[in-house]
Amino acid sequence: MVLLAILSIFVMYNYKFNNLLSSKETIILGIETSCDDTSAAILKGTHILSNITANQLIHEQYGGVVPELASRSHQENIVRVVDGALLKANVSIEDIDAIAFTQGPGLLGSLLVGTSFAKSFALARGIPLLAVNHMKAHILAHFIDDAGGSKPEFPFLCLTVSGGHTQIVKVNSFDQMEILGKTIDDAAGEAFDKAAKMLGLNYPGGPLIDEYAQMGNPNSFQFSKPKIDGLNFSFSGLKTSILYFLNAETKKNNNFIRENLHDLCASIQRTIIEILISKIKLALKQTGLNQIAIAGGVSANSGLRKELQKLENEGYKTFIPKFEYCTDNAAMIAINGKFLLDNEVFSNQSVTAQARLNW
Ligand code: KG4
Ligand code: ZN
Repeated sequence: MVLLAILSIFVMYNYKFNNLLSSKETIILGIETSCDDTSAAILKGTHILSNITANQLIHEQYGGVVPELASRSHQENIVRVVDGALLKANVSIEDIDAIAFTQGPGLLGSLLVGTSFAKSFALARGIPLLAVNHMKAHILAHFIDDAGGSKPEFPFLCLTVSGGHTQIVKVNSFDQMEILGKTIDDAAGEAFDKAAKMLGLNYPGGPLIDEYAQMGNPNSFQFSKPKIDGLNFSFSGLKTSILYFLNAETKKNNNFIRENLHDLCASIQRTIIEILISKIKLALKQTGLNQIAIAGGVSANSGLRKELQKLENEGYKTFIPKFEYCTDNAAMIAINGKFLLDNEVFSNQSVTAQARLNW
């Protein structure tokens, strides 16, 4: 333990010393294994050279992520995914200046694979180790050079919407972020996925609802919306409302879902987006901020992207990430690592994966 602590201090001083001597742009290897995507990315300065992700299709047949299978797949994938990222970036292992990895939150077995890989890599190479919070990384993806236009300036608001989280965050700096509101039950991504399951669609259903919604009428069906004060969200009532509606309609017509799939998807998507946008508007009003970003898997939703952009007409600045930086990816881990490196927030070899990592 003492030896590891001494070694970590040596690595930090060595990094600072070398950094003073050279003005070259740092190269960071980012590793993401928090859920069911194994991803590795190479970041040079604030520019992404490669961002490779292996999706685990095995979970589709189970209707959700099976933690044990996810960690096994990460174990199988991680070396070839890192190799792929190095190859695409035309960078060798010796060129890497620091390694960033997802410490949490996420599935513990999955996080352990990336954490162990990153710790071993840092130890073998004698380079800084940077522990990243997955949810903060989703937000900081906006600072990648080609993330999607101009970069927001601190402070700004961000709606983070993923499979496990739905939050409105006031982003004061790269690590100082305040959660102004969050879901009291299901996350927005979960609402999409659970609704999709009721419609007989595969997991993850969010992208499929998005696809079918584009061919449907969003005003065909009405579902109940939550009455939650302030900036918190709730999606469990909507889920129940969809379930009761589908049960009643399929009793009358066995083919109801098949015959109305596009309209159902469009109506469900419209309802979820209306819930999200109404809270965004309230947050902008309450904080007096005029920049709003979206992040996380659900920010890939085409309807949400369109509705958010409309806020530009009301004088707000909107930030919508490129598709590849919405769902889980290692590029966002690498850019978060860059902020940690520049501010000398290093981890040492005693760092552990945290399934419920706080902000
Ligand atoms: O951020 P993410 O990739 O993983 C987590 O950290 O959870 O988010 C995954 C979630 C899933 O619930 C998925 O259905 C949803 O994002 N999602 C979408 C779309 N693409 C991904 N939901 C709606 N529309 C999409 N296009
Ligand atoms: Zn995520």
